[in-house]
Amino acid sequence: MAFTEFKHPLILDKLTRMRRIETSSKDFRENLNEIASLMVYEVFRDVPVAPIKIKTPVTDTIGYTIESPVVLVPILRAGLGMVDGIQSIIPTARIAHVGLYRDEVTKQPVQYFAKKTSDIEQSFILVVDPMLATGGSAIKAIDIVKEWGAKTIKFICLVACPEGVDALSKAHPDVDIFAASLDEKLDADSYIVPGLGDAGDRIFGTK
Ligand code: URA
Repeated sequence: MAFTEFKHPLILDKLTRMRRIETSSKDFRENLNEIASLMVYEVFRDVPVAPIKIKTPVTDTIGYTIESPVVLVPILRAGLGMVDGIQSIIPTARIAHVGLYRDEVTKQPVQYFAKKTSDIEQSFILVVDPMLATGGSAIKAIDIVKEWGAKTIKFICLVACPEGVDALSKAHPDVDIFAASLDEKLDADSYIVPGLGDAGDRIFGTK
C-alpha cells in the first residue's frame, strides 16, 4: 500500500477555497471537480499502456493506449462530486455506484445500493469519496468491489486523516490511497479537523 498526499500549489489553492465556510456550493463543486482532474493525472502516471499500430495522415506509426478499461466507483452521495472532474480527463471511464448509509445503532456502514459495470475483473478501478474520515465507508465500498471481482483498485479522496488512512490501509493493504490533503485528526463527531465540514451537504447545498 502507498499513501500519496498532493502538495501541488494549484491543489493547495483550490482546497483552501473549498475549506472556507463562506464558499458557495457552486464554487465548492467546481473546485472539487478541478482538484479531482488534477489528482487523476498523477494517479495514472504508472498505469500500463499497450502499443498499437496507427496511421497518421503522414505515415504508419506506433501509438499507445491505456491497457485496461477504467471504472469509477463513487461512494454515494458525496463521491458523485468528483465524477465529472475525473471523466473530463478519462471520458471513456464507466461509472459503477455504491450507496452506503451509517446504521445509527452499530455506527457501521450498510449497503443500500450497488451497481457494477461489466468487465470489472479486468478494469482499473478508482473508488472515490471526498472525505476519508473513520475509513468505514471506504473499507466497505472496497469490500464490495472486491466481491465483484475487482483486482486493481485505487482510492482517491480530497481530505484524509491519519485514523482513516490507518484503518483503510490495514483493511486493504493492496489499495493505494491518494489524498489532496492529510489533515490533523478526527473530532468526537467523526468530522475531519480542520477539514471542510460535511462534503455531501456542501456539494448538494443541503442542510
Ligand atoms: N464526512 C464529511 O463529509 N466530512 C467529514 O469531516 C467527515 C466525514
